Amino acid sequence: MWDQHTSKVNAGLIHCRKPFDPQLPSLLMIHGSGGYKELFRMQVNGLEGRVNAAAIDLPGHGDTPGPSMDRVPAYTAWLATFLEAGPVRPVVLGHSLGGAIALQIALDRPDLISGLICLGSGARLRVMPEILSGMKEDYVAHTKNGLAFSYSDKTDRKLVQQGIDRMLQVPPEVPIGDFTACDNFDVIPRLGEIKLPALALVGADDRLTPLKYSQFLVDKLPDCQLAIVEDAGHMASVEQPEAVTEAISRFMAGIKPAAV
Ligand code: COA
Repeated sequence: MWDQHTSKVNAGLIHCRKPFDPQLPSLLMIHGSGGYKELFRMQVNGLEGRVNAAAIDLPGHGDTPGPSMDRVPAYTAWLATFLEAGPVRPVVLGHSLGGAIALQIALDRPDLISGLICLGSGARLRVMPEILSGMKEDYVAHTKNGLAFSYSDKTDRKLVQQGIDRMLQVPPEVPIGDFTACDNFDVIPRLGEIKLPALALVGADDRLTPLKYSQFLVDKLPDCQLAIVEDAGHMASVEQPEAVTEAISRFMAGIKPAAV
C-alpha cells in the first residue's frame, strides 16, 4: 500500500517488514528539524503486527530529494501530495516540526488522515533567538554545544554524541530552514477546529517543547489524550523507544483500521 504513494512521490520511507494488513490501523511518522526517518526505526519495528507503521523523510532530508523548506504550510502541502498519491489514510505522528506539520494537515486536509500524534511539539513553536543565531553564526560549534539540550540529563552520553555526529552531516541550511519554519508556526487560535482523535506525547524532561505545550493541546483540542514519557527529553523516540512505542500502540488501539 505504501508503495502506491512512493511510486508517485519520490520519498524516503521505511515501514514494517510484514505485508500491509488492511485490518490494522496505519501510522506515518515525521521527524523534526534536521531529522530523518531512522529516528523512528525502533517504533516501526516495535509496532510490527499491531500497526502498519512507516516513517518518512521530509524534502531535503535523508533519502527524499530537496530542496528543504522554511515554512510549515509548504511541508504540509508536500505531505498532502504524498498522501493523495495512494490509498492509505494514516494517523500522522510528528515530532517537533513534524508535530506542527501534523497539526497543519489536520487543519488543511483532515480528509487525508485518521488522527494525529504530536510528539514533543506544540501549537506554537517560537525558537529561542540564541538557537537560530547560533546556527547561522557557527553551525558546528552550536550543534556540538547546543544539541545536548535536546536530551534528558539522564540519557546515555554515547546516544547524545551519536545524535550530534549525525546532525553534523546535515547541511546547515536544512535545520536553519526547519527552525525558521517552527519559529513562524502558530495555530493556537485554530485548535478548536481539529475534530480528529489526537495524542500529545512528551518526554518529562523535554526542555525545547516542555510539557506545558502538550498540556495546552489537551486543553484546547476537542479530542486529545496526554501521555508523558519518563526519563526522556525532546528526543524521546530514541531516548526511551519502548515507552514511546507502547504509548503509540495504546492510542492506535482506539483507531479504526479503515486505512483504505
Ligand atoms: N503551547 C502553550 N503555551 C505556549 C506555547 C505552546 N506551544 N508556546 C508559547 N507558549 C506560552 C509561553 O510559555 C509563554 O507563557 P507565559 O507567558 O505563561 O510564560 C507565552 O506563551 C508566550 O510565549 P512565546 O510567544 O513563545 O514568547 P516568549 O517570549 O515567552 O518565549 C522563547 C520565547 C523562544 C524563549 C520560548 O518560546 C522558549 O523558551 N521556547 C522553547 C525553546 C525553543 O527554542 N524551542 C524550539 C521549539 S522547535
